[in-house]
Amino acid sequence: MEYLTFFFFACWISFANCVYSADTPQAPAPIPNEKLLVLTVATEETDGFLRFMQAANYFNYNVTVLGMGEAWKGGDVGRSIGGGQKIRLLKEAMEALADQEDLVVLSVDSYDLIFAGGPEEILRKFQQENHKVLFAAEGLIWPDKQLADKYPSVRSGKRYLNSGGIIGYAPYINKLVSQWNLHDNDDDQLFYTKIYLDPLQRETLNMTLDHKCQIFQNLNGAVDEVLLKFGTDRVRVRNTVYDTLPVVVHGNGNTKMYLNYLANYVPNAWNYEHGCSHCDDNVVDLSQLKVNSCPCVLVGVFIEQPTPFLPEFFQRLLTLDYPKDKLRLFVHNSEVYHEKHIQAFWEENRDVFNSFMVVGPEENLSQGEARNMGMDVCRKDATCEYYFSIDSDVMLNNRQTLKLLIEQNRKIIGPLVTRHGKLWSNFWGALSLDGYYARSEDYVDIVQRKRMGVWNIPYMAHVYLVKGSVLRNELKERKYFVLEKLDPDMAFCRNARELGVFMYITNRHDFGRLISTANYNISHYNSDLWQIFENPVDWKEKYINQNYTRIFTENYLEEPCPDVFWFPVLSEKACDELVEEMEHYGSWSGGKHERISGGYETVPTDDIHMKQIGFDKEWLHFIREFISPVTLKVFSGYYTKVKFDVLQAYLRPHHDSSTFTINIALNNKDTDFQGGGCRFHRYNCSIESPRKGWSFMHPGRLTHLHEGLPTTNGTRYIAVSFIDP
Ligand SMILES: *[C@@H]1O[C@H](CO)[C@@H](O)[C@H](O)[C@H]1NC(C)=O
Ligand SMILES: *[C@@H]1O[C@H](CO)[C@@H](O)[C@H](O)[C@H]1NC(C)=O
Ligand SMILES: *[C@@H]1O[C@H](CO)[C@@H](O)[C@H](O)[C@H]1NC(C)=O
Ligand SMILES: *[C@@H]1O[C@H](CO)[C@@H](O)[C@H](O)[C@H]1NC(C)=O
Ligand SMILES: *[C@@H]1O[C@H](CO)[C@@H](O)[C@H](O)[C@H]1NC(C)=O
Ligand SMILES: *[C@@H]1O[C@H](CO)[C@@H](O)[C@H](O)[C@H]1NC(C)=O
Ligand SMILES: *[C@@H]1O[C@H](CO)[C@@H](O)[C@H](O)[C@H]1NC(C)=O
Repeated sequence: MEYLTFFFFACWISFANCVYSADTPQAPAPIPNEKLLVLTVATEETDGFLRFMQAANYFNYNVTVLGMGEAWKGGDVGRSIGGGQKIRLLKEAMEALADQEDLVVLSVDSYDLIFAGGPEEILRKFQQENHKVLFAAEGLIWPDKQLADKYPSVRSGKRYLNSGGIIGYAPYINKLVSQWNLHDNDDDQLFYTKIYLDPLQRETLNMTLDHKCQIFQNLNGAVDEVLLKFGTDRVRVRNTVYDTLPVVVHGNGNTKMYLNYLANYVPNAWNYEHGCSHCDDNVVDLSQLKVNSCPCVLVGVFIEQPTPFLPEFFQRLLTLDYPKDKLRLFVHNSEVYHEKHIQAFWEENRDVFNSFMVVGPEENLSQGEARNMGMDVCRKDATCEYYFSIDSDVMLNNRQTLKLLIEQNRKIIGPLVTRHGKLWSNFWGALSLDGYYARSEDYVDIVQRKRMGVWNIPYMAHVYLVKGSVLRNELKERKYFVLEKLDPDMAFCRNARELGVFMYITNRHDFGRLISTANYNISHYNSDLWQIFENPVDWKEKYINQNYTRIFTENYLEEPCPDVFWFPVLSEKACDELVEEMEHYGSWSGGKHERISGGYETVPTDDIHMKQIGFDKEWLHFIREFISPVTLKVFSGYYTKVKFDVLQAYLRPHHDSSTFTINIALNNKDTDFQGGGCRFHRYNCSIESPRKGWSFMHPGRLTHLHEGLPTTNGTRYIAVSFIDP
């Protein structure tokens, strides 16, 4: 019954509207755009303010900023009540505008607010509301919950007033704010609420709320109501509950991060047609600078856990395209294991950089303390223009990284780096309620670089650039990496967010990758050799011969004897480290063997099985990944299964019982040993000068009776595997 009554009522209303518009066919003349004035209070040019102005300029809003440069005395509005200073400033500004009857004033916040549409649309919607003053509305009541009952009820839509957005005719706004006589730190929203809840004032000032988000979308409590709506030129926010396209989007309460996400698109920051539209705004052109006028950068290197491929990490710092005398190095190393790597790099390169400072494990610094220290070194040095923080698990393979980041000209910006073949990266697109990872709708597209641009994000780690000036201003405190029990990076990001400093990730270029530090067993002599599973890309770069891929692209292999193929497979490093590993293992199966320098190697074979050094799974994987493709190429059709061995020195003539054999030379003839080589009796063919890192591959049955030729001096190392079909 109630339902029916309600239904009837709704019908009647729409009928009345219909009659009304039939009686007055002429809609009121639209208010011209120049009659709209935007007033906003901002005491500082925060990143949020600059973003607001960018959107305002894009739509040609006429904006007057109140209070710029003034000290903020309005309290911490993010956490508690306050904001009275905004009304005081608005009151002062309105006195001069009070008599402009046809002027429409839009008073909005700016640090956490963006425009999604232009003045024309706002004015049209305001006119349709048919009131003199219109406030933003929200579903949550703040700051005084007790006032809830005093609000007029609404059948559908948001019931409570939000003071982040007000639009109205100048004389009415003036009458509203001229009532202010409180302090700067009193609550602005409470002030407006009380006036609005007074039925008399509500009528005389002709006030209402934008219940259905025609103009104002507050995000607090409403994040689930909104979606991005992509158009050809612009991106809007659509309220899916009321099916409206709000013009002003406000990240009130703790929805700043969500606003940042929306503002990566709205109003024209990024869309499918044109990609990123502000990425080239305000860039610094380093190419115009002379080499010696490049900005000074402090590079903070953090080795906070045993990290594979650390020597390679340092080598990449050397290959950065940046004048090295403009780079200062601050290295924090918490691992005794890595001291030898740092020592080696330091000895070779200490004079390459402007300065080189190492804080080692003996200092026993926590990660947070170390990061605070690194940042502070830059902060305290007025000539330090940038602080480039990079963790040892970041493999930058773009030599331009530092320049590209500087050119992008943001307060804090990181290059996107990802774990090879995974969705793991160095940023989060959203945070869960407890501050940990949550996936944003665009995360995967950004990681996979399907959407490219410069993205405002709530969390980043591993590698980023911070302006020195920001460290001396917005981030001038010294303890950002230590906060409650948060991980240091989470602490830093939370501090930056709360200070209103935007953090960006750029994926406009391919910068590099993150390596995995999990399962790094440092009890081997050359532990990186074991990383073939965990970090296959880095393993390949370090241990596979540079010319290996040319086998497939250019047929880069030789056939020195019939059916004996010869091709590059291991790098110098792989050969050296395998030999070291074997030597380190020490207990050669020959047992009686003597290392005779300058003498003749009498012991027929000395061998260590890969299993003895715990390298069997890795070696098998290597055979599958790197030898099988060659096998398929030269003996196409064979299926490869392997058993293997490492053999040293001399092999008596024998027929391998396997289908074919690979034999990789691990050191150099003439420099490391004399003699040696391989002879294939059947073809009266011998190869006297094996090449380090190159492998023979030959069918191992009857056809290829072969022997190793005697080594006459030094020790010759080879790795031999027998491959069964
Ligand atoms: C902006 O508004 C101010 C104050 O109403 C006015 O004096 C000025 O002419 C306006 N500017 C433009 C470009 O409309
Ligand atoms: C508010 O003002 C409009 C004209 O702008 C008028 O039509 C309407 O009746 C007024 N509403 C109230 C509640 O006074
Ligand atoms: C290192 O610091 C930790 C925590 O600060 C402390 O528990 C530990 O005893 C220190 N170790 C040394 C060797 O000083
Ligand atoms: C690390 O390697 C050593 C052999 O060098 C082995 O004894 C040990 O079990 C390995 N540790 C892990 C966790 O795999
Ligand atoms: C790869 O081949 C080129 C010549 O083709 C040679 O100069 C270079 O040294 C080779 N690299 C390795 C690692 O053998
Ligand atoms: C053996 O090699 C060493 C250096 O590796 C060299 O000094 C010596 O002369 C060599 N002996 C012969 C007989 O070639
Ligand atoms: C093997 O070849 C060498 C020359 O390379 C030749 O002198 C020798 O006679 C050949 N031996 C046989 C058994 O054919």
